Amino acid sequence: MNSLVFSLYADPVFTEKMIKNLQCKKGEIILHQFPDEENSITIKSDVKNKNIILLAHIEKPNFKIVTLIFFAELAKELGATSITLITPYLAYMRQDNRFNPGEGISSIYFARLLSKYFDSIITIDPHLHRYHKLDELFTIPGIVLHATKPIAQWIKAHVVHPLIIGPDNESKQWAQEIAQYSDAPFVILSKTRQDDHSVSVTLPELDQYKDFTPVLVDDIISTGKTMMEAVKELQLLSMKRAVCIAVHGVFAGDAYQELLATHVSKVVTCNTIKHISNEIDIYDLIIEHLLKVFSLEK
Ligand code: R5P
Repeated sequence: MNSLVFSLYADPVFTEKMIKNLQCKKGEIILHQFPDEENSITIKSDVKNKNIILLAHIEKPNFKIVTLIFFAELAKELGATSITLITPYLAYMRQDNRFNPGEGISSIYFARLLSKYFDSIITIDPHLHRYHKLDELFTIPGIVLHATKPIAQWIKAHVVHPLIIGPDNESKQWAQEIAQYSDAPFVILSKTRQDDHSVSVTLPELDQYKDFTPVLVDDIISTGKTMMEAVKELQLLSMKRAVCIAVHGVFAGDAYQELLATHVSKVVTCNTIKHISNEIDIYDLIIEHLLKVFSLEK
């Protein structure tokens, strides 16, 4: 096997799981931070003629991205054949439009930047809304894996009589699929965003679902305001306590604690970003995909 797995800012447990299942060798990196907070990176392993798999958790990306770029530059200088970037959460995808005159479209710039340094990218449910496919943004091959099946399995195992609820139109792609896989009905709410920290949500008629457990599903919980507003509206209709599920638990500031303090019974996320709420594993999806790729290469 000519692949080496490196890990940057990823949890060692996730990295070990990948290495064990892929039966690859682990690449060794030394990161050093100077007193002025600048970075230096050393690759200890021999990467010459190797295909590199870099697992990187890049939530809060601004500092981390510099290290990723230094890693890619160095690995190529040292003779690596290719670098596949695995970022379970793909940051910067939500700014997908020029909402105000003169505003930058960060998703495009971020995708172009990664495309310059990596040969391919694998990610889990990126926020593709106005853009529908990674290749509308990236110039390198991109693979999108979906957490909808593992989420549906979790719901089937833990929730009695679920009603799947997408809190906004953008969440329909996940809500619909999760509902299908968990044999549950679904509804989509309507959301208006006022600013980063405030949204309003309106509910459709839910009388027929009074005995169901509301299960809110979204791709990202950031400030948690989307979930909180939806939960508030459900409570006003005397619905049961909601279960909130997100693929990516970004949880800006105290969002997790604030959400837990509302009319919810549980807040659950996938392990694309390490957090106490991680109950749904997506690493099997990544491993399964890579094993398929490896068997095709043989
Ligand atoms: C936006 O369109 C996403 O799908 C989520 O609804 C959004 O990121 C949630 O953000 P927040 O938790 O800050 O309301």
